[in-house]
Amino acid sequence: MRDKQYQVGFVGAGNHAGWSLYPCFQYFKDVTLTCVCDLDREKARKVGSVFGAERFYTDFREMLDQEELDALFCCGSAKLHAIVIEEAIFRGIPLFVEKPPAPGAAEMKILAEKADLQDATVMVAFMHRFAPITVWARKVMADKQFGRTMMIYAREGIWGGSGDSMVRDSAIHHIDFLRHLGGDIEWVQAAGCSDGDKRNAYAVTLMFTNGILGQMSLNTLEAFSYPNDAVEIHGDQGGYIRLDNWDKAAWHRDSGNLWAPPDNPHDGSLTYEHGWTAAGTNRSIKIQGYVDEFAHFFECLKIGKKPVPNHWDGYRALQIVEAIIESSKSGNRVILA
Ligand SMILES: NC(=O)c1ccc[n+]([C@@H]2O[C@H](COP(=O)([O-])OP(=O)(O)OC[C@H]3O[C@@H](n4cnc5c(N)ncnc54)[C@H](O)[C@@H]3O)[C@@H](O)[C@H]2O)c1
Repeated sequence: MRDKQYQVGFVGAGNHAGWSLYPCFQYFKDVTLTCVCDLDREKARKVGSVFGAERFYTDFREMLDQEELDALFCCGSAKLHAIVIEEAIFRGIPLFVEKPPAPGAAEMKILAEKADLQDATVMVAFMHRFAPITVWARKVMADKQFGRTMMIYAREGIWGGSGDSMVRDSAIHHIDFLRHLGGDIEWVQAAGCSDGDKRNAYAVTLMFTNGILGQMSLNTLEAFSYPNDAVEIHGDQGGYIRLDNWDKAAWHRDSGNLWAPPDNPHDGSLTYEHGWTAAGTNRSIKIQGYVDEFAHFFECLKIGKKPVPNHWDGYRALQIVEAIIESSKSGNRVILA
């Protein structure tokens, strides 16, 4: 099906979709954005027409009745995502949906089971998996010199807001990212601190089913003046990978010498930063993984493969979100089935 022109529709024309998702369509010559739906028709027209859409709706079911679509995109709210997932499963339309894919894990589990029964295609938009530095870090993790992964640390901060919603809406990315690097999680133990208003913090310890230890610092204590997203991945050969703000990565290796430079200069640190000074490469939608998550979804459509992260990854991420919130309130370790 390589020569086909793919017709896609989009539900939601809000901020995130307009800034980071619609612009990705430009990178795919064999994909046509034909129609857009938003409760606000003018918004749908304003955003969608820039990227080629010609028909605009305020009711997504009407759009699906009228249009012959090869795939559907949705970026609205957790509640809308769940409704659209159910409809896309029912109609057999491959779906790319933003996070959180549903308001809660229980609801998402039911949807995931339905998706499996109907052999549906649902990709959940955890774009950190597709950032160039992530691809580089995964190659380092597979390198013999890095060894076996022992511990993963992730830090996520935003600039104020309720703790629960920060974990559900924002830190869910880091939660999925930890699963991407380390696999499934067996238990979480969390503690929280709050000013009773918009400054909140969680410290999380977790154990992966394969014995890797995990730690997360999640908070709404961030300063606007400097970004502070970080991930560290420690191997058993004395080296570690450090990812900063989704645009810089380093592999710090054990040089063998504490008091002197490495005997072999190749045993120092290696760094990688997406080359962004050339025009067109300097886009955050590329650097942060949005373009490549689209690429993965379209490639899977073309070759008839199921994309990942999928509905079950959406469910697992929500399950961990809820475990962190529950553990921080009860003080108990929460075992994940
Ligand atoms: N992956 C990321 O990096 C990232 C970043 C920011 C936001 N998000 C996610 O994107 C989603 C949207 O966030 P936002 O800040 O753009 O919100 P937003 O409110 O700006 O956009 C949501 C849009 O959905 C529309 N909408 C709501 N119900 C609808 C319906 N029934 N039919 C059609 N349209 C409907 C609204 O009119 C609005 O235009 C959220 O789930 C958020 O968590 C993801």
